[in-house]
Amino acid sequence: MKDCAERTVVLRKPRLSGVDLEEKSTILITCSPGLVGYVRGEVEQLGYQVGASHSTGLEVEGSQVDAMRLNLHLRTANNVLFLLKHFKCKSVGELYDNVSAVAWEEMISCKEYVSVVGKVDTGFVDNSMFANLKVKDAIVDRIAGKRGRRPDSGKERDNVVVQLYWKDDKCWVYLNTSGQKLSDRGYRKIPGKAPLRETLAAAIITATGYNGAGPLVCPMCGSGTLAIEAAFIASRRPPGLLRSNYGFMHMKYFDASKWRRIRSEASKQSKVRGGKAAFVPGPIVATDIDAGAVEVAKKNATTAGVAHLIDFDVCDFAETIVPKGAGIVVMNPEYGLRLGDMRELEATYKRIGDFFKQKCSGYTGYIFTGNPALGKKVGLRTSRRFEFYNASIECRLLKYELYSGSRKGRD
Ligand SMILES: C[S@@+](CC[C@H](N)C(=O)[O-])C[C@H]1O[C@@H](n2cnc3c(N)ncnc32)[C@H](O)[C@@H]1O
Repeated sequence: MKDCAERTVVLRKPRLSGVDLEEKSTILITCSPGLVGYVRGEVEQLGYQVGASHSTGLEVEGSQVDAMRLNLHLRTANNVLFLLKHFKCKSVGELYDNVSAVAWEEMISCKEYVSVVGKVDTGFVDNSMFANLKVKDAIVDRIAGKRGRRPDSGKERDNVVVQLYWKDDKCWVYLNTSGQKLSDRGYRKIPGKAPLRETLAAAIITATGYNGAGPLVCPMCGSGTLAIEAAFIASRRPPGLLRSNYGFMHMKYFDASKWRRIRSEASKQSKVRGGKAAFVPGPIVATDIDAGAVEVAKKNATTAGVAHLIDFDVCDFAETIVPKGAGIVVMNPEYGLRLGDMRELEATYKRIGDFFKQKCSGYTGYIFTGNPALGKKVGLRTSRRFEFYNASIECRLLKYELYSGSRKGRD
């Protein structure tokens, strides 16, 4: 269990009363492997001081109001977990008793639906399913005892989500204030072929240093994830504005007016309002050879409220019209593990190198690939390689300085 094994945990007394939205506790922000540096950057930008951190998450101190704000703003994180309780635990009986001692009836209505997810790395229990079941039992039994009715429970993560970590003889019980992962922004109604996760796409765009000032060109756009996340970044639009369901909304004490205020403050900062651009970023160009993919990308961008910021076109990547200026060109070609024939892909990567040299001089080029051998076919010298993971595939974002009359070299 990576999460717990690598955590440096400061044991603090649990301080949550259960109903005070302003009361502080530890907030654990989780992310996919490789993204913690990007999450840290975002969290610090939002004004939080980062405490302990590990490969797939970091901690800040904050209230449930902070948790709402983090859910709305974070582009590269998966979940925002609010610590309810932690304790020493050497058996499932102790787990049940400790979880039963939390005043769940003050937090969860008996009409709600509860799901428990967890990671377990301890000799005190054989599998995490059993531990999750015990936590679920403790919660619903307590509520039934106090309110006379047991809430429904199951696997769906679109209501109340409680998260358990059990490492050796230590347990942490969190409220998963996100519910569903934050990568589920709500704009990708049609996923398309081999789409990037929205959080990964946001991290890739962040790695390029893009801030909306110059042009951004995204040939091979597929379902448009990179271009849409870039448009969010350019317009300072919080990625969570579109989502209408978060775990915190299902808590008994959810304050809808406070949430509306947080959202409206955020959308005031956003430079795109009412579907019109109050601020016009540099052009964002998204193209793909597959007309169906471009159709999907347009629909997704429309749902995301940023279609007016993106120029779409159907064409071979080499025919993409590259705006003048010192922009960024970012491509996510197939890399042979899931799609595409190797020999054909080698030729495609070589053509990407030609496209960069011939049409993108003055730009900074980026290729996101999970296949280093294909990366070498580009035939240009990389100036930097950023490490990423796409699900379990180790990937690289290759960076190329595309000076006029680009230096050719082998990497
Ligand atoms: C890995 S997918 C990109 C996925 C995208 N990043 C997303 O999140 O949906 C690669 C895309 O490259 C496109 N493609 C392949 N060959 C192309 C070519 N010669 N010119 C333009 N697009 C091409 C495919 O149609 C596909 O949509």
